[in-house]
Amino acid sequence: MDNQAEKTKKLFIKTYGCQMNVYDSERMAETLGAQGYVTTDNAEEADMVLLNTCHIREKAAEKVYSDLGRLKPLKEANPQLKIGVAGCVAQAEGAEIMRRMPLVDLVVGPQSYHNLPAMEARVQSGRRAVDTDFEVDKFTQLKARPRAQRGPTAFLTVQEGCDKFCAFCVVPYTRGSEVSRPADKIIAEAQGLVEAGVREITLLGQNVNAWHGQGAEGLGDLVRRLARIDGLARIRYTTSHPNDMADDLIAAHAEEEKLMPYLHLPVQSGSDRILKAMNRKHTAEQYLRLIERIRAARPDIVLSSDFIVGFPGETDQDFEDTLQLCAEVGFGASFSFKYSARPGTPAAEKPELPPALLDARLQRLQAQIIAQQNASLASMVGRTIPVLFEKKGRMPGQLIGKSGYLHAVHADAPESDIAEIRMVEIMATSTNSLAGRLAT
Ligand code: SAH
Ligand code: SF4
Ligand code: F3S
Repeated sequence: MDNQAEKTKKLFIKTYGCQMNVYDSERMAETLGAQGYVTTDNAEEADMVLLNTCHIREKAAEKVYSDLGRLKPLKEANPQLKIGVAGCVAQAEGAEIMRRMPLVDLVVGPQSYHNLPAMEARVQSGRRAVDTDFEVDKFTQLKARPRAQRGPTAFLTVQEGCDKFCAFCVVPYTRGSEVSRPADKIIAEAQGLVEAGVREITLLGQNVNAWHGQGAEGLGDLVRRLARIDGLARIRYTTSHPNDMADDLIAAHAEEEKLMPYLHLPVQSGSDRILKAMNRKHTAEQYLRLIERIRAARPDIVLSSDFIVGFPGETDQDFEDTLQLCAEVGFGASFSFKYSARPGTPAAEKPELPPALLDARLQRLQAQIIAQQNASLASMVGRTIPVLFEKKGRMPGQLIGKSGYLHAVHADAPESDIAEIRMVEIMATSTNSLAGRLAT
């Protein structure tokens, strides 16, 4: 048998949840890459399957158990297969997973995956491994990222964890308290990404605008420093909390050309009563005034939000206030969720509203959000805007890219335009995207 083939092991990772999990999955694959693993898109040929999980809502967390159930036949067919659970469900329910799911070999929390090599060795010797420690900052332990050629866009985690403790949210428990990476480490990682072909970097954090790492004065300053990297064309950041939107960051939106005119700024509710019960620590009016200041700095900025409907105690009037705030801002896009009680959070102690009411409210809010989204897309028709092409489209000769406002844009263009920014005249809209032609 060929030795080389014997050494290469295959890793299949399924990623749930937010962009930070996407970033973490890449870093886990790189870490296990040093142990001889290459990634595969086919779970059936894998030597290790990792589920990188999300605990944010009950449905997301439950999916992990059903997906694990579906892996059972694979493990029966190949007893050598190792199965691991990573991410926020691993952190929240690691012990329960080990108890309920004998087929799971490994549980690794989001702050512990620098220990994957040792854990892998342990499971290869037939034992099980669990690590959900918060003690060590994993970024001080992870090796530098390998220099493989990359696509035009990348995520870069700059801040992790959350100290806000919104009454509904598990993140402070699954990700731990806020940690900011130092500026020089972030800049070095960004430089490496750009050398590998990346043109656009999205800075990630659960509270990215609370970034307060060494070597820069807040996120606005960090953005300005990153903007000096030659070849880096676009910078984005997500997710921000309204109370951490510092003046300097707002100013960066006016002054820094590489900072894209799009901001995801979740408000959750338009009712002061509910905002208070959610422990968001700002009012609807304060949010609206903040939006005014951001728009004064960058008038064409596209804003998006997250909303929760049916938080315990939400009355018809509270919900109307949410619709009202949403209408007043005019978001370019938004995500809305039915409240889901999460174990261990303060809101979970309160009586829940009837599910039918949540359904009805979600439907009304989503209709309004879709109308706003369509209006935002329609407002682009006739404009000629820069588009960063990312990949081939479904139609021959077509490429897909993003506008600065984060709209998906389709246009006929040569493949050599992938990773290039081209001016595109927007001709039409379709569901969730724009169609245009290269401007001459
Ligand atoms: N750090 C970000 C959001 C993290 S979670 C922020 O502060 O906005 C992403 C979104 O999931 C949240 O904005 C919220 O709208 C939603 N979410 C969080 N917990 C939830 C819960 N228990 N039920 C329903 N939606 C929830
Ligand atoms: Fe969760 Fe609130 Fe922290 Fe966002 S700010 S991660 S919603 S606790
Ligand atoms: Fe989910 Fe954890 Fe992200 S709970 S949303 S994967 S931080």
